[in-house]
Amino acid sequence: AFNLRGRSFLKELDFTSKEWTFLLDLSADLKAAKYAGTERRHLAGKNIALIFEKTSTRTRCAFEVGAHDQGAQVTYLDPSGSQMGHKESFKDTARVLGRMFDGIEYRGRSQRAVEELAQYSGVPVWNGLTDEWHPTQMLADQLTMREHSDKPLRRVTFAYLGDARNNMAHSYIVSGALMGMDVRIVAPKTLWPDQDMVVKPAREMAARTGAAITITEKVNEGVKGADFVLTDVWVSMGEPAEVWSERISLLQKYQVNAKVLKATGNPEVKFMHCLPAFHNRETAIGEQLYEKTGLDALEVTEDVFESDASIVFDEAENRLHTIKAIMVATLG
Ligand code: CP
Ligand code: NVA
Repeated sequence: AFNLRGRSFLKELDFTSKEWTFLLDLSADLKAAKYAGTERRHLAGKNIALIFEKTSTRTRCAFEVGAHDQGAQVTYLDPSGSQMGHKESFKDTARVLGRMFDGIEYRGRSQRAVEELAQYSGVPVWNGLTDEWHPTQMLADQLTMREHSDKPLRRVTFAYLGDARNNMAHSYIVSGALMGMDVRIVAPKTLWPDQDMVVKPAREMAARTGAAITITEKVNEGVKGADFVLTDVWVSMGEPAEVWSERISLLQKYQVNAKVLKATGNPEVKFMHCLPAFHNRETAIGEQLYEKTGLDALEVTEDVFESDASIVFDEAENRLHTIKAIMVATLG
């Protein structure tokens, strides 16, 4: 029933709750085996292509280390490292790579591109982030939530604050719906998620799984009772620099700070972030912005980011175990 062999991993909507749970369980098993030194190699002799049209630290490293742990070889194609999309269509590239590789990871702009790769390559394709979805991140986040909560996921409440039209927000809504969770999206109305692509299918799913989906502009109401508070950058990769100042003014009120954590009313609340995060001015972009606008675009304050409530590096580590599970399940 849970045979995912040969399947691609493109977006959360393609999976059932049982399949998703299977991937979470497999991730936990592979993590435990790695820690115990008993990991077995399920991907010996496999060749994997890692295509990145946007930059990455966690996703790339998780695919590389996960593949090596499992005995596979990887070929990394950097954001300018192939003909794809420039000189050669996705369809042609897919048919070439499918003749050489057993699996393909793709991070880029459009969801259509990753779907096309899957359609024409004939091998499993894994979405390493598009403008629309970031599904591999969701398994890592849910594994982390499971590890930091006594409750099953279907009893967990999480609140996401910030840009609700980006890949992370979209994926949180659908993956939360899939697992029957209490999902709160807290954002200004102009940044609410698309109805047809995200909200409608998520609500249909929620009706089956018992999930609750709340989309609100009100911070205090939205975070009340949350077990986890999450956020993401206010401007995503691929968006033009011009949107920064508008986003800052729209999202200032939605910054995750000590007051927001307090408003949950939950002394055990945990903070999560997929990373990279702006939590101080110590990045080139943060510095430039401050010079230009006199404003900080900090989606989370330094004190929260560095607090005991913050589990962002557990979350980052879990990218490895979950991405490994995806590769093993679909190729092993
Ligand atoms: N969270 C995440 O996807 O990080 P990278 O952009 O570094 O891969
Ligand atoms: N929304 C962010 C996520 C980065 C992992 C982006 O797309 O840049």
